[in-house]
Amino acid sequence: MAKTYNIAVIPGDGTGPEVVKEGRKVLDAAAEKFSIKINYIEYDFGGERYLRTGEPLPDSAVDELRKTDSIFLGAIGHPDVPPGILEKGILLKLRFELDQYINLRPVKLYEGVETPIKNKGPGEIDFTVIRENTEDLYTGTGGFTHRGSADEVAVQSSVYTRRGVDRALKYAFEYARNRRSSRPWKGLSEEEKEKGLKGQLTLVGKTNVLTYIYDLWKRAFDEMGEKTYPDIKRDYNHVDACCMWMVKNPQWYDVIVTGNMFGDIITDLGAMIQGGMGIAAGGNINPEGVSMFEPIGGSAPKYTGQGKINPLAAISSVQLMLEELGEEDAAGSVENALRRVVAERLDSLAAGRMGYTTTQVGDMVVREVLK
Ligand code: IPM
Ligand code: MN
Repeated sequence: MAKTYNIAVIPGDGTGPEVVKEGRKVLDAAAEKFSIKINYIEYDFGGERYLRTGEPLPDSAVDELRKTDSIFLGAIGHPDVPPGILEKGILLKLRFELDQYINLRPVKLYEGVETPIKNKGPGEIDFTVIRENTEDLYTGTGGFTHRGSADEVAVQSSVYTRRGVDRALKYAFEYARNRRSSRPWKGLSEEEKEKGLKGQLTLVGKTNVLTYIYDLWKRAFDEMGEKTYPDIKRDYNHVDACCMWMVKNPQWYDVIVTGNMFGDIITDLGAMIQGGMGIAAGGNINPEGVSMFEPIGGSAPKYTGQGKINPLAAISSVQLMLEELGEEDAAGSVENALRRVVAERLDSLAAGRMGYTTTQVGDMVVREVLK
């Protein structure tokens, strides 16, 4: 009997619904090909609904989402809603309530895609960032005193727990260990290979200034690596240096693990070197629970309804979803289809410059999946 997955869909704001529509088409095609059954449950959370009801995300919805197999999110962000409300009220609330403690962001340059980094190609740009997703500055710990006066003080603290750091590190070490089977990283020297090393995990932090939180990260990283993952080469970069190396020598990276705030920042840089927001996807993962997949580019309000936005980031998040569900073959077919479409068909990955409309690009990927 065909396996059935209940997938919650939150198209959201701006161009979210347009790209989600294409993502669903591709998911349906992969499901058809691999005899999977998808049952969609659609939710209208986003700016419009918030402006109508005053409530970003009812608690009852979180309980419903908890019972699904996965969540597919378009984009959250509305020009008429002040910053922070929808982000905290929907996106961050879901990450926290569903304990999606990993934010998985592959940075992979496909053949035929332009990168702004001179003299680098698909052989050099292929790594994954694992961003801790529930702690750090994102906990919202802090506040104001004397708000609005000349004596105003604002404090916002970065909070890390050993438990939170350890679970993110464990995921990252496991990921680095398993990644080599499908996409071997070429950065190890012969000598290192002889020593039995199989991959590399780089911790990105700021131990020279954030001497509490990244001291905790560094100790936890070394302890876990030494004890449980001696086959993974450990490396450490300060976050500012990491930004430099991502541009200068991206081939040094295999898997990066970092905190929530630094991960947010470096993955926008990562998205740019892999060809832009048109292709960058991410997963908010709870390895023991319900995960949520999204294109990371936001709602792009200026392109709404024009058929100009690139749906490949949403399609790539469908691939990540299938991987997380354990549907490796279906995920592989989506990735291969996407790879062929970018290599052979599109003029550019930028909105409005693809040479095709949003729907046409979705259709091309569907055709490739079904081949
Ligand atoms: C991201 C986004 C979010 C974040 C915002 C929208 C809250 O930038 O997913 O990277 O900061 O995590
Ligand atoms: Mn971000």
